[in-house]
Amino acid sequence: MEAFDSLKQSFLKALETVFKEAELAELKAEYLGKKGKVTQLMQAMKDLSPEERPAYGQKVNQLKNELSDALNAHKEALENARIEAQLATEKIDVTLPGHDMSVGSSHILTQIVESIEDLFIGLGYQIKEGPEIESDEYNFEKLNLPKNHPARDMQDSFYIDPNTLLRTHTSPVQVRTMLEYGGSKPVKIICPGKVYRRDDDDATHSHQFMQIEGLVVDQKTTMADLKGTLLKLAQTMFGPDRTIRLRPSYFPFTEPSVEVDVSCYNCEGTGCSICKHTGYIEILGAGMVHDNVLKMSGYDPNVYQGFAFGIGVERIAMLKYGIEDIRHFYTNDMRFLRMFNQ
Ligand code: DAH
Repeated sequence: MEAFDSLKQSFLKALETVFKEAELAELKAEYLGKKGKVTQLMQAMKDLSPEERPAYGQKVNQLKNELSDALNAHKEALENARIEAQLATEKIDVTLPGHDMSVGSSHILTQIVESIEDLFIGLGYQIKEGPEIESDEYNFEKLNLPKNHPARDMQDSFYIDPNTLLRTHTSPVQVRTMLEYGGSKPVKIICPGKVYRRDDDDATHSHQFMQIEGLVVDQKTTMADLKGTLLKLAQTMFGPDRTIRLRPSYFPFTEPSVEVDVSCYNCEGTGCSICKHTGYIEILGAGMVHDNVLKMSGYDPNVYQGFAFGIGVERIAMLKYGIEDIRHFYTNDMRFLRMFNQ
């Protein structure tokens, strides 16, 4: 009996010094494991006389239960302490102000493109895209700009090989779409995208910029449709009171061709530095699709007519927001970009 008691005491003493769950497992093995001290006491029962065994067995069992209850209680206490400690370090003060998450926003050029897309989708147009690496045939020849045509100089180009270049305008998407439609379906598309020219970069020139091309081909398309469409575009971009003016111009892919001006949004037409005292600002080029262009892309000019226009996206943004240097769009100065956060 004394041995039982001292075993229990030594166990309880050892238990007091245990603070880790791993050590607890060791202690358990030492006393209650297969070769543990309590197990040994149980095995000693076989050396006793049959009369002594029941009382002894009861005692060992009781000891075993006491030790394992104490073990379990200690284990639970350790677990609780661990959770408490964890909670204390991970405590969140929900009353503290939150961290400001900084999220990006659309680039101003994307915003302009999207607002023009919205307008034209509303007018029943589809949005088409084409490759930035383009063939000479689509970029020039099928737009009525044969080799050695002087107007090619207007678009000094980055050639990759004699037949391949970075597209100088979005007009080749016209050609691609007409060829795709096979000369028999009406076309009503706008084509936003990047274009490239061999220009020296300065405040108003960039070797890469963005355009949006528009093309409508159908059997009763007139210049009045073109004018109405462009008036709507000008008013969407520069305000509902704007008027437009068409001036004769020249593009190889349109005949007749026009340069389109919008009435000055700054001085309402009375003359200021923005409109160079003319009351109007040039915003885009347009015209009726040249018969040769229709023919080369499979449309019969006796049946189909069309109009086309090309807008410079940066130019629209510069006019709309009074941006004086085109390079601001590409240098990603956060102070500039943040001005257009939406
Ligand atoms: N492609 C012309 C350019 O890059 C812009 C343009 C003018 C497009 C008249 C057209 C158009 O579709 O009809 O300068």
